[in-house]
Amino acid sequence: MKEAAKPAFGTVLTSTMAMAEYRDGRWQAHELKPVGPIPLHPAAHVLHYGSECFEGFKAYRGKDGAVSVFRMDKHVERMRQSARQLVLPEPDAAQLATMVREVIRASREQVPEPPGALYLRPMLIGTTPNIGAAATPSSTALLIVLASPVWDYFAGGAKALRIFVEDQKTRTASHLGVVKTGGNYAAALGPTLEARKQYGIDQVLFCPGGAVQETGAANFLLLRDGHVLTRSLDSSFLHGVTRDSLLTMVRDSGWRVEERPFDVAEMLEWVKTGEAALSGTAAVLAGVGTLVTRSGEHRVGNGEIGPVTQSLRKQLVAIQTGEAADTRGWLERV
Ligand code: PLP
Ligand code: COI
Repeated sequence: MKEAAKPAFGTVLTSTMAMAEYRDGRWQAHELKPVGPIPLHPAAHVLHYGSECFEGFKAYRGKDGAVSVFRMDKHVERMRQSARQLVLPEPDAAQLATMVREVIRASREQVPEPPGALYLRPMLIGTTPNIGAAATPSSTALLIVLASPVWDYFAGGAKALRIFVEDQKTRTASHLGVVKTGGNYAAALGPTLEARKQYGIDQVLFCPGGAVQETGAANFLLLRDGHVLTRSLDSSFLHGVTRDSLLTMVRDSGWRVEERPFDVAEMLEWVKTGEAALSGTAAVLAGVGTLVTRSGEHRVGNGEIGPVTQSLRKQLVAIQTGEAADTRGWLERV
């Protein structure tokens, strides 16, 4: 597809989705359907009490034309964990993986060449019609897998990002950061738009009480050649598969990887000479050029995407697209 024809991330879906229903205490057989409206009662649990979670991961077209999905098992497991924490029926791992494979196969012609990819979006919603069920879980649910041909998530593509350091507001309740649920994105939207208006930033880095967590849709890493610092896993933020992949790669290369809590002051000190980047399926590894705090602007390095960020991104993408050897079994050919 030509440069000018690339649609914005997520705005175009392929023509086929997979759908499975949970009722009578079990998952029913799934079906492939044309993408279109779904049957949903206006009293459905999700519409009132936000019983929803989702996933996001990618399938890539290799040089030989074959399509492979990246670390699907981790995303399926995270989806099941999100469902458990939201007291939604847990998807069956094998069934969900089969649904994803079937959607990829049905969408094979629509998988773009790198740097594009097919973005897979499983979603799970509570469907029980009961507007009184605020403190009762949904006993029925729908599991749907959508797919979308995607390119860059951040408009501006290869430009260093401008990030607002939010040291007051939280992105989510402290026990739900680890859950990929729509409510977390709803909670981040207001603060993000406000900061965008006030400071002209691209994204918000949530650092409640000064503790650095993550942005609205990606994890946050501090980088130097041979050294990475990122927050250690806890329930306050999403445990990114991209984060895990990058840390695994650099550990295997003998880098020092520090996973521990750190605060805004330490981050601002680091970026005087080091780099900062956002990691995620959609973001891949996106370089940060400027950190904006309530008291002023802090340039990250020279304000451009740093060499360590560029090199790590390249290495990761090479594995994802099959250009580099997949020594860890992260790709599954579909
Ligand atoms: N944090 C948030 C809030 C996200 O939405 C995402 C994207 O999925 C990530 C982190 C990165 O996760 P992953 O690398 O698994 O895509
Ligand atoms: C992802 O990277 O999969 C995300 O969740 C980003 C999405 C909110 C667009």
